[in-house]
Amino acid sequence: MSGAQVVVANVTKAFDGGRVTALRDVSLDVAPGELVALTGPSGSGKSTLLNLIGSLDEPDSGTITVDGLRLEVIDAIAYRAETVGFVFQFHHLIPTISALDNVQVPMLGRGRDRAARERTSRELLAEVGLAGRADAVPGTLSGGERQRVALARALANDPRLLLADEPTGALDSETGAQVLSLLQRLRAERGMTVLLVTNDDDVAATADRTLRLRDGRVIPDAALRSASA
Ligand SMILES: Nc1ncnc2c1ncn2[C@@H]1O[C@H](COP(=O)(O)OP(=O)(O)O)[C@@H](O)[C@H]1O
Ligand SMILES: [Mg+2]
Repeated sequence: MSGAQVVVANVTKAFDGGRVTALRDVSLDVAPGELVALTGPSGSGKSTLLNLIGSLDEPDSGTITVDGLRLEVIDAIAYRAETVGFVFQFHHLIPTISALDNVQVPMLGRGRDRAARERTSRELLAEVGLAGRADAVPGTLSGGERQRVALARALANDPRLLLADEPTGALDSETGAQVLSLLQRLRAERGMTVLLVTNDDDVAATADRTLRLRDGRVIPDAALRSASA
């Protein structure tokens, strides 16, 4: 399975009836299997961009194309379930059910019986090093373990595109580094495309490429070079 290609063309997005412009004429192109780090100050539009690419929200103007299909014309629910995996800063696991059941949530309603779902869920938990914690509820797991369960859940439907919004932002640096190296390994094994929002320069340095946002715009590399010259 290969990663998705993502093309964002001239995307603009405002909130609050136009009073807050989150993205201004943003264009970018992510190759299949590429890991792109998205950095920028708080409020620069990183989450908004990720949400638009994940079809959690729609641009005001411009287009987003994934594997040649414009998001505005495809079924957003199917796209989110089949093509995309999400990981957020806070794990958003369901607190009352086990790790095994949490990982299965994205598989529900997709025509797989319970035994097949459980088998996949156990395999995914093993992939993230948590085979022994399948029955644990989130509250009994450490922060890093919870993020690993969230990562396993994001992979439940074998996504071609992983969207991770500051996935290590709530972890101490050592635990964050472990979660990130896990993410890197999973990408290498699965070949998926990854868009990783981070404010950690060390994290960004491990990506294939870094895109910087400021005030809702992508800062061109040339501007970065002249700024640091
Ligand atoms: N749902 C929303 N309603 C109103 N304003 C929003 C909403 N989402 C984001 N914004 C605003 O858009 C700008 C970009 O936000 P965001 O994409 O969350 O930035 P980042 O993730 O880089 O911190 C900010 O000014 C933020 O306040
Ligand atoms: Mg954000």
